[in-house]
Amino acid sequence: MAAVVTPVLTAGIGEADLRDIAVYRGRGGYKQWERAVRDLKPADIQAACDASGLRGRGGAGFPTGKKWSFLPNNDKPRYLVCNCDEAEPGTFKDHMLLEETPHLVLEGILLGAYAIGSHHAFIYIRGEFKAGYAIFMAALAEARKAGFVGKDLFGTGYDLEVTVHRGAGAYICGEETGLLNSLEGKRGEPRLKPPFPAVEGLYGAPTVVNNVETLAYLVPILEKGAAWFASVGTEKSKGYKIVSISGHVNKPGNYEVALGTTVNELIQIAGGMREGRKLVAVQPGGGSSACIFEEHFDCPYDYEHIAKAGSMLGSGAFLAFDETTDFVAAAHNMVRFFAHESCGQCTPCREGGHWLEIVLRRFVEGRGLMSDLDMMRRVSSTITGLNLCALGDSIEPFLKSVLNRFPAQFEARVLKETTHV
Ligand SMILES: Cc1cc2nc3c(=O)[nH]c(=O)nc-3n(C[C@H](O)[C@H](O)[C@H](O)COP(=O)(O)O)c2cc1C
Ligand code: SF4
Repeated sequence: MAAVVTPVLTAGIGEADLRDIAVYRGRGGYKQWERAVRDLKPADIQAACDASGLRGRGGAGFPTGKKWSFLPNNDKPRYLVCNCDEAEPGTFKDHMLLEETPHLVLEGILLGAYAIGSHHAFIYIRGEFKAGYAIFMAALAEARKAGFVGKDLFGTGYDLEVTVHRGAGAYICGEETGLLNSLEGKRGEPRLKPPFPAVEGLYGAPTVVNNVETLAYLVPILEKGAAWFASVGTEKSKGYKIVSISGHVNKPGNYEVALGTTVNELIQIAGGMREGRKLVAVQPGGGSSACIFEEHFDCPYDYEHIAKAGSMLGSGAFLAFDETTDFVAAAHNMVRFFAHESCGQCTPCREGGHWLEIVLRRFVEGRGLMSDLDMMRRVSSTITGLNLCALGDSIEPFLKSVLNRFPAQFEARVLKETTHV
């Protein structure tokens, strides 16, 4: 596959003022929304979503249509919540969509809500996204004025309200149940599952939480057809993905590509390595993911191949590291982030993260102990898999991967004249 960028959600960004509803409509915007409400049943959108192979772009890659199918049939209201918390280290695609093409984000939310039979959708916007919040609020006001949000839409009797909620800058509020608690005005602490949000979510009612990018893809899927989306990608990873490429590349940025584009091709797309240096590691799925190395740089960037290579695609945050990287400092930085963002409910996450941060800080300062090296390698069994949410499992993959690959960098930071072990 050639190293190509294919603007789908990103089409028009940088060329036209997509924040202006007239411009967005001039490019076909809100046509799918009107068609859906007038001519399609929710089941039609669900079927299109299933046939497209769309999987959640928020991190776990769960099939979107399947997630919707878990909603029970009862007399409770149903809610759709768009997750725009986007705090995963290295991810910067959702707030770009929010700021650059807010009507597309809104149209995706409207379609998602209609597909699950909801009359009330929410968008949870990370507190720091002040510009994105203001831009989205303006877009929502325009859409309401145009008759796309509110009561009796297109004269069909269908009502749909959209509520915008701002977070306060906690990474854990991106986790769907932490987000729902925060939305309800409680502490943003993840809930014990089951029950899953589909059964008991916002205000105890059936709820779907979907990522911004996931929902936005509903618009082109309806416009161009599920078969169009499914024709691109690999066997189980269909369609396109916005990859946030950063690190030691010449042109960091958001690049929309077909899933299955290789790791090496993504580096080319981002202008190659800075100063012609050598790529030695890639963190393919944000701060939570393990690094992959040279033997996997020809690997297709999709959910299955990246998992087989020992990591995960996550939300599509792709960090490239060259041979000048201080992996001890990088590991400390990553662990410090997770330790700081732990909500503290689970002992392994709360204590393990904090303790690992202290040990790694010693290495950064050249005061590491030789015995810490093996102990850090073993520590995953006391943290990973033993927590309420996936934040706890995010603490050690990056550390473990670089510790095993570049042990000399850590050994060089061991205190030389140590008298104790
Ligand atoms: C600690 C943590 C933080 C998360 N942050 C986000 C986030 O900022 N945005 C997001 O869409 N999903 C985030 N997720 C994943 C969500 O819990 C959820 O799976 C996702 O919003 C579902 O959307 P999708 O099915 O469209 O991928 C996070 C998960 C964890 C464990
Ligand atoms: S794993 Fe960490 S962040 Fe998640 S609920 Fe437990 S303590 Fe909180």
